[in-house]
Amino acid sequence: MIIITGTSRGIGKAVAEHYLSRDEKVIGIGRNHPISHPNYSSINCDLSDPDAVDQISFPQLGEEPIIFIHNAGILGKVDYFERLESKEIAQVMQVNLFAGATILQQLLKKLPKDQSFKCIFISSGAGKNPIASWASYCASKAAVDLFCQTIQLEEQELGRNDFHCLSVAPGVVDTDMQATIRESNQNSFSEVERFKEYKNSNQLYSTELVAKKLLKLIHETPLNQVLYSLRDIEL
Ligand SMILES: NC(=O)c1ccc[n+]([C@@H]2O[C@H](COP(=O)([O-])OP(=O)(O)OC[C@H]3O[C@@H](n4cnc5c(N)ncnc54)[C@H](OP(=O)(O)O)[C@@H]3O)[C@@H](O)[C@H]2O)c1
Repeated sequence: MIIITGTSRGIGKAVAEHYLSRDEKVIGIGRNHPISHPNYSSINCDLSDPDAVDQISFPQLGEEPIIFIHNAGILGKVDYFERLESKEIAQVMQVNLFAGATILQQLLKKLPKDQSFKCIFISSGAGKNPIASWASYCASKAAVDLFCQTIQLEEQELGRNDFHCLSVAPGVVDTDMQATIRESNQNSFSEVERFKEYKNSNQLYSTELVAKKLLKLIHETPLNQVLYSLRDIEL
């Protein structure tokens, strides 16, 4: 059983479709659900609303292995932090970290300690290196890395022995998020030309490639660390 946030488009949709093509059951959590497939079911939730996330409830999940992927993410407004409204950072942290953490906590409470459970948060290179005008996003993705490392440590201590928590950076991927970045203007984002060049010189990964690499990491790689970059996964 695969549970994924943000399956309406981009990386999350491609990952959900890859799992469906392998006959897996997928539950998508989010605001929009364009996937139509007999093995796809949906939970409607605006992940920017903490109360709505608290109210998510799962059907019986059975004893089969569970994979939870917190993929939904937002960049927030691209501009210097001093120019933003105060609520911007809270919204980015809520979608990118807190929503996934809340869902993970519910699953940890629900799943027996011996059930196979992998939890993957989609992180970013922007959580490792600062990018001006992305302060909230960088902070949220850095927090994702340390959150996942801490959860892995905690669950080891608590005796959850068939458990892995991963924070996985996908690389630079050809999605709406990148299109939004390229629409920024130089006054609010000094590096906009670099991101336009990624697109113009075909350096962006396709969502299909990212989905294949992620599945290879999850299913065919010895998982002996928490932080991964899909750049290091060869197909
Ligand atoms: N693209 C890249 O280059 C890149 C690089 C590094 C990391 N990432 C990370 O990869 C993940 C996926 O990004 P992407 O590029 O595929 O982005 P995307 O194309 O913009 O898709 C984002 C997904 O998140 C969902 N989402 C956003 N806000 C939501 C909310 N409030 N409630 C429910 N769902 C919400 C969207 O659903 P709606 O249709 O409802 O908006 C959509 O399904 C993100 O965590 C992102 O930070 C991307």
